[in-house]
Amino acid sequence: RMFVDELQDMPRIKGYDVINGVHVPKSLKIGMYHKKWKFHRDLPASQVFAYGTSRHTATVPGPTIEAVHGVDSYITWQNYLPSKHILPWDPTIPSATTSFKMGIPTVVHLHGGIDEPQSDGHSEAWFTKNFKHHGPKWTLKKYHYHNYQHPGTMWYHDHAMGLTRINILAGLMGAYVVQQPNVEGPLGLIYGEEYDRPLVVFDRGFRSNGSIYMNSTGNNPSIHPQWQPEYFGDAIIVNGKAWPYMNVKRRKYRFRIINASNARFFKFFFTNNMTFVHVASDSAYHESPVELHDLLLAPSEIADVIVDFSKSKSNSAILANDAAYPYPSGDPVNEENSKVMKFIINPNQEVQTGHIPQKLITYTPPELSMASNTRYIAFYEYASDIDEPTHLYINGKSYEAPVTEMPRVGTSEIWNIINLTEDNHPLHIHLGLFVVLEQIELVNIEEFKACMMKLNDAIKCKIDKYSHGKRTKVVLHEKGWKNVYKMMPGHVTKIFVKFSFIHSNESYPFDATAEPGYVYHCHILDHEDNVMMRPLKFVN
Ligand code: C2O
Ligand code: CU
Repeated sequence: RMFVDELQDMPRIKGYDVINGVHVPKSLKIGMYHKKWKFHRDLPASQVFAYGTSRHTATVPGPTIEAVHGVDSYITWQNYLPSKHILPWDPTIPSATTSFKMGIPTVVHLHGGIDEPQSDGHSEAWFTKNFKHHGPKWTLKKYHYHNYQHPGTMWYHDHAMGLTRINILAGLMGAYVVQQPNVEGPLGLIYGEEYDRPLVVFDRGFRSNGSIYMNSTGNNPSIHPQWQPEYFGDAIIVNGKAWPYMNVKRRKYRFRIINASNARFFKFFFTNNMTFVHVASDSAYHESPVELHDLLLAPSEIADVIVDFSKSKSNSAILANDAAYPYPSGDPVNEENSKVMKFIINPNQEVQTGHIPQKLITYTPPELSMASNTRYIAFYEYASDIDEPTHLYINGKSYEAPVTEMPRVGTSEIWNIINLTEDNHPLHIHLGLFVVLEQIELVNIEEFKACMMKLNDAIKCKIDKYSHGKRTKVVLHEKGWKNVYKMMPGHVTKIFVKFSFIHSNESYPFDATAEPGYVYHCHILDHEDNVMMRPLKFVN
């Protein structure tokens, strides 16, 4: 039955101390534990991997970490996982290991964080239980988060090479909020209290014994015995409970909605016609709020929205979903995955209903003339003779091929992302923040694709001859600074990506050119693992 478990707020951990009224740096230890977790009243407890300060307090998703702008947080991520995974996996895709005898490789990435390479959670910087074994790019036990970036909502999650999809599926993710009280306070927005709630949303399948279900046979078993191109489950989980309910007052609430699914896009809407007032996207505030009836979020996209329950005519509302899966041309939603959660609205009108300012925060807009380089980044899907995808690549290259993207720190670039597949892929770039400029449909795509499959060079294949189809303008609430965005199939998406802060002209408080560097990738985790990911190295 849906709506029988109450929505939880995950434990909140402060990434700072307060001494004599001043915010000061803090060191935390957060572990990864194997434990049992109740996703639903009527489902036996499931085995999960969970983040927490102890096994007992570990949760799925993990604790919400609250950091303060400019105040360093240090986190030692500790791996206490066993030497057997709770999910099937596939050693034939490029992975941290080919056996778990040594323990389960993990590494934590703060998604959206502007962090030094050593603390960025590089896929090859993985480590096993008690740091016994580590990947070729591992350097550091205690991660340093400078938090010297604009305020916003992020999330942290596992990023181990070839294992990201199963480690996150097992439960290794959580919310991370950078607060900047002197900048956000004056806005008068609902902020950091009982009415400001992260919602970490993902889909899962379960067996009747409670275990998380993942298909253990691949679509191309002779090539990849287990790997599947996209994971989907029918149960929609919010803050660790399947289809929860929340009792709300007739007032405004702020929800920081994080799509933590492997592959599922959500198109959220309210069954009683309430709207979302969108104030920020994955990481950055907008200049002014945008009111929306529906909200499309790809995996890893974040929407920071205000919902005003005082406007509801009914005393309950269902947060629903109608995004096809895979998006956009897969199956339509069904009875289960079309519902997300239920709000039960107190009939008594509140006196104080909360405030939405007309002006939020203005950051430097993209200055196109400042772009120092233009790149073409192509997405490919390769299929077997039974016409099932075998792997996905960026620029026709495996992850191991020598690094080709080497931007200069402090500069900006134009990236044209050419999506030659039939699916929408959410692109995420570590360290860089971008503004999406436009999406242009490719004409005669089969001809262009044939050339690209052969030469793998957009200029030689005369991209200009093909990129003049329908132009899709970026919708208002997606015009700001982003760290992940939906690359439309059969289109070229033009983005302006900035490798410096968007709120100040100061240079990074760390050396971004250091090893192990960064990565960029598709955020459909099953794609990222096989291997829609490439290294990203900065130079001076
Ligand atoms: Cu959210 Cu490289 O990941
Ligand atoms: Cu993808």
